[in-house]
Amino acid sequence: MKLEKDFIFAASTNAFQIEGARNLGGRTDSIWDEFTKRCFHIPPIGKNEREINSIAVSADFYHKYQTDIRIMKRLGLNGLVYNIDWTRIFSKNSQEINWEGIKFYDDVFATLQANNIKPIPILFHWDTPMWAEIQGGFENRKILEWFQSYVATVFKYLGKYSDIWFVNDENSTFTLDGYLGDYLPPAKNSKEGFARAIHHLNLCAAIAKIEFEKAKLAGDINPAALLGIDHDWSPGIPYRIEDAKACQEYNLWFKNFFLDPNLKGTYPAVFDDWLETEGLTDVIQPGDMALLKNNCLDLIGWNYYRPAYIACDDYQEKPGEMQIASRTFFVKGFKQVFPKNNVRYTSWNWIIDPTMLLPGAQQLWGEYQKPLMIVENGLGAFDDKRGDLILDYNRAEYLSIHFAEVKKAIAQGVNFIGYSLWTYCDIFSPSGGYRKDYGLVAVDFNSPIKTRTPKLSYVWYQRLISSGGENLTHDDHDMLEGLLKGELSTWDFWYQ
Ligand code: BG6
Repeated sequence: MKLEKDFIFAASTNAFQIEGARNLGGRTDSIWDEFTKRCFHIPPIGKNEREINSIAVSADFYHKYQTDIRIMKRLGLNGLVYNIDWTRIFSKNSQEINWEGIKFYDDVFATLQANNIKPIPILFHWDTPMWAEIQGGFENRKILEWFQSYVATVFKYLGKYSDIWFVNDENSTFTLDGYLGDYLPPAKNSKEGFARAIHHLNLCAAIAKIEFEKAKLAGDINPAALLGIDHDWSPGIPYRIEDAKACQEYNLWFKNFFLDPNLKGTYPAVFDDWLETEGLTDVIQPGDMALLKNNCLDLIGWNYYRPAYIACDDYQEKPGEMQIASRTFFVKGFKQVFPKNNVRYTSWNWIIDPTMLLPGAQQLWGEYQKPLMIVENGLGAFDDKRGDLILDYNRAEYLSIHFAEVKKAIAQGVNFIGYSLWTYCDIFSPSGGYRKDYGLVAVDFNSPIKTRTPKLSYVWYQRLISSGGENLTHDDHDMLEGLLKGELSTWDFWYQ
């Protein structure tokens, strides 16, 4: 099956994970700058443990974007999902625009466009400016005004570059790990903080939609442009037959709770009950639900990495039954388990299983009837970078078996408009720092120029794209030839 001509073959990446130049161009600190400085931690080499390293330079995309866009063109991408950094555009407060920030993104997007790569911006990827955070960040309702000023400015000056936008990346991860827990900044460990932050994020998306439509009327954005939500639901699999109900509960919280507000303008009743139990009934204020209902988003971005095995939370695991400890949640009734038998894992203990992508996509399409795009799908691994060739067959295989499911979903009528993998080049990973590789292009973080080198998976994607999604092969000799003769032999300074 050939894909439509305008199918988007993209890669996704994110400002704080690759951009660097954190204090250049008039920028000030955000919560990720503060967090990585404060919690700096390097575990022993080779361990799959969390590394919290400096993001001051990272892959230095800020200075190297022209090189990167040359590589992206050579790779064949027709889209780049890129998060715009709020703090670069509003560095001091919600009023004064930092024109150097606008200019930077204007240059990046214009260069992408000149190379026939559609910029697909994400407006917020977990990185609140410090000036906002010290006033309460997403817990403070004032964030609605601050966010409005930010998105209106972005649409006005950069709106012309794209007809596909996303408001945010994974509100779920940001609020569960950053507000309910303390794994990510702003590390609040607070139920109240969580409730306020998630509701305000949802309202921010509705406000973004209002500004988006205004920008269309003002001629700043294409009238047919779409504004989406990006979410990372891992479809639930009941661990045992008797876990079916627990699995439904899980999906209600992890799919509907995070998607319904911005796609249907409602919250599942379980959230209202929870707010009541926690004494947080003032979080949703009069008028909020109408704001959500009247300003639903147009598109679903889906980050599919893995499914989630779900068991009742009173299930007693036998010794040795699980790969890693199970995970309980803030609500009772279910837990996520990681069975050892018959389940594949990455070296970072992430499940490898593409089989839930098709039924998950069918559910999302059936339930919301909004176009879908995979915005993240990728393999975090320790790449062997000791030799001249980086032969990441494991990544090529991972991507290939997942892309095959996207094609199946399209054949069965799911309206997938594109596929964007995670990620273009090696990055700073929130759970693995610079030791957890995700890129098709390697970055030598120890070299002064942050040298770029294509991996085998780069050739895999190049072939997939040039064959219009046909060539899924991930282990043949041609791929190696392609890397050696096609790529590395002509990979001069221009691409490094
Ligand atoms: C997604 C995030 O949740 O997962 C990315 O949007 C992140 O920012 C990716 O890099 C993979 O997670 P990790 O922690 O393995 O880098």
